[in-house]
Amino acid sequence: MCPVIFEPFKIKAVEPLAQLTRAEREAHLERAGSNLFGVPAEAVTFDFLTDSGQAAMSTEQWSAVMKADESYAGSRSFARFERAVKDLCGYKHVIPTHQGRAAERILFALVSGPGKVIPSNCHFDTTRANIEYGGGEALDLVIDEASDPSNPHPFKGNVNLERLERLVRERRADIPLGMVTITNNSAGGQPVSLENLRGVSRILRGVGIPFLLDACRFAENCWFIREREPGQSHRTPFDIAREVFSLADGCTVSGKKDALVNMGGFLALDDDALALRARNLLILTEGFPTYGGCSARDLEAMAVGLHESLEPSYLEYRARSTAYLADGLESVGYRTVRPTGGHAVYIDARALLPHIPPEQYPGQVLACELYLHGGIRSCEIGSVMFGKRTSDGRFVGARNELVRLAIPRRVYTQSHIDRVVELAAEVAQRARGLRGLRMTYRPDYLPHFTGRFAPVEVPEPVLNA
Ligand code: F0G
Repeated sequence: MCPVIFEPFKIKAVEPLAQLTRAEREAHLERAGSNLFGVPAEAVTFDFLTDSGQAAMSTEQWSAVMKADESYAGSRSFARFERAVKDLCGYKHVIPTHQGRAAERILFALVSGPGKVIPSNCHFDTTRANIEYGGGEALDLVIDEASDPSNPHPFKGNVNLERLERLVRERRADIPLGMVTITNNSAGGQPVSLENLRGVSRILRGVGIPFLLDACRFAENCWFIREREPGQSHRTPFDIAREVFSLADGCTVSGKKDALVNMGGFLALDDDALALRARNLLILTEGFPTYGGCSARDLEAMAVGLHESLEPSYLEYRARSTAYLADGLESVGYRTVRPTGGHAVYIDARALLPHIPPEQYPGQVLACELYLHGGIRSCEIGSVMFGKRTSDGRFVGARNELVRLAIPRRVYTQSHIDRVVELAAEVAQRARGLRGLRMTYRPDYLPHFTGRFAPVEVPEPVLNA
């Protein structure tokens, strides 16, 4: 029998979980226009809205926080942070930013623009927005297997290398850099294989195009390489990470994921000239280059977290607990994106609610019901985010109707997850009775954050006279 994989930590500080009645939750959700982003966190019991910035920090991180040197320039904490990043990534320049998107904004303000195209497996939405804001094109070249939720391919984050090669052949001069997101959040938190990263590196660097990683979840990606890729199981996650970073020329990182902190990020680069320009831009909006957008406390915590997240016992527990939630949900009638990714479980809402059409937002319906029934907060990734109306008024739904349950790092225990599965089972049993939603307010950008919804009206039954 396989031994139980337990949480490799004990709990030192606790925070009570809110436990509300359904009626109280109904009132909160109604006030929020059926948008879970508008519900106060104190009315949520199990918060799976995001894994970003939600980690519980370790005693090592908290003690590093106490040692922080908040000097404006040349702080000791920056030196420690820079060393930690360089030891891991090996890049020459380390530029701290307050979170991932700030690193993206600086990078793409410098290299993107009209006529430029930036390929990736899938750009995360802030990356895409920062590229497009400057007039550039963000191009996703993920393999076809990624769009099929049940396809068991072990590396559904991989780049389609043939398409990348063709793009490089046809538009070499328009490509200021290429990116790969590890793991691929937009397509299910799926990893990218080492072999694929080597291929991307060869294609891009072979013609002198810089290759950057969006490395928010680098540690989880390295664990999957170790577990799933032939010939890698003898290596430490750190050793794999070193090779992964060595294949690229720099990275953008949101420390709020695998650096196990609540705030922080960085841009790291090998290119001296680009780094100089990035630092000059950094000063305009983030701060002096030895703190960027962070306090020294954030830098200290990130320096420790970046290395803690590569500990095999932590990564084994992390991957296992995500898969444990997915397996539990599958056992009570849900379909989830397979294989399970690193940071989140993605439920296929279309499979559970086939009677609700895309224009009535099945993912949003399920997310709301998980909240109303169990205080579980998740996030729709479907037609609310990606649905569009054509000029003739037709609704074009998203490719998949998913609900993401992103798992904060080191926060919930196995019994929390067991309870979530129990509650979700009760929702699944009543799935056929759930009704669709219509959007009563749709903002022009990022509608999932502030959009509002109301139940669709059910036509009155026609009575015979
Ligand atoms: N890249 C990826 C792959 C991300 O998942 C995120 C954030 C970012 C960049 C931006 O980082 O939030 O620090 O500015 N993802 C969060 C999420 C918001 O919920 O998936 P940030």
